[in-house]
Amino acid sequence: MFPAHRPRRLRSNENLRRMVREYSLSVDDFIYPLFVRPGQGERRPIASMPGQFQLSIDEIVKEAEESLSLGVPAILLFGIPADKDAVGSEAYDPNGIVCEAVRAVKEAVPEIVVITDVCLCEYTDHGHCGVVHRKERQGREELVIDNDATLKLLVKESVAHGEAGADMVAPSDMMDGRIGAIRNGLDEAGFHDLPIMAYSAKYASAFYGPFREAAESPPQFGDRSTYQMDPPNSDEAIREVELDIQEGADIVMTKPALAYMDITRRVKDTFNIPIATYNVSGEYAMVKAAAANGWIDEKRVVLEMLTGFRRAGADLILTYWAKDAARWLGGG
Ligand code: PBG
Repeated sequence: MFPAHRPRRLRSNENLRRMVREYSLSVDDFIYPLFVRPGQGERRPIASMPGQFQLSIDEIVKEAEESLSLGVPAILLFGIPADKDAVGSEAYDPNGIVCEAVRAVKEAVPEIVVITDVCLCEYTDHGHCGVVHRKERQGREELVIDNDATLKLLVKESVAHGEAGADMVAPSDMMDGRIGAIRNGLDEAGFHDLPIMAYSAKYASAFYGPFREAAESPPQFGDRSTYQMDPPNSDEAIREVELDIQEGADIVMTKPALAYMDITRRVKDTFNIPIATYNVSGEYAMVKAAAANGWIDEKRVVLEMLTGFRRAGADLILTYWAKDAARWLGGG
């Protein structure tokens, strides 16, 4: 009989642990989400997301420069328009806030990967991700999202972002058939090489609470549960991802990250495509609040959490800690 394997033998010293570590966290995998608003020299703190701001375009350019200098390869832009209406017109206006921001960043920091959020919720006065009709049923008012009317607008939005110079579009609306529609629309407009990162398994989650303050996009009535996924479902995530891949997604996403690491792992084991996971606003707010109270060590908790996403199978991580984690990983 051989002597029994003793797992502790490989844990006795930091360099030994380093050699047998299975997963690593790298700045190469981070995407930094940013909120762009009108104005000049504006940095409006987001109360529920300490350390995050709504930024005017000139400030976004500075953030992009700083992010890249820390090694963060990509930013994701969310727009907060001056005006909202029922059909989210500024979303697909070539002179809208996001298109202007993309042009400014690509001019000042051409190497950084600029990803744009493609959705209507930040631009509609009712705060839903699509065109909405209210319908009466059995005396009750019901919300009906017009999926197919929404698709046309999402295609226009994606093409506008492509024309402004975006390096990738990221549809987050969860309408059926949107990836195929956007892929066709981009191809027809000549953007054959513009990749799509699809929010494929996006759940109707309470963890988006702070984001809705940040993006000024809370639904004014109803909620998003008719188009976002139901949290208890797992097989359905596989079907959603499969459809998005068939329709032409280049990267698929799971969202939120923390409570859905099992979904990330299933997607990773089932498909052979890059996976991103979104470490959302509520996950950020919880850690920030606990850290502010001195209850947890922010740096250690965040690095452990982000490493957990990698272990769950995520290739890319969207996180509001992108810059901090870049500093921490760099020994800062
Ligand atoms: C919708 C969108 C949301 C988030 C990203 N894109 C909010 C929602 O679906 O309600 C949430 C991100 C976060 O919570 O950090 N355009």
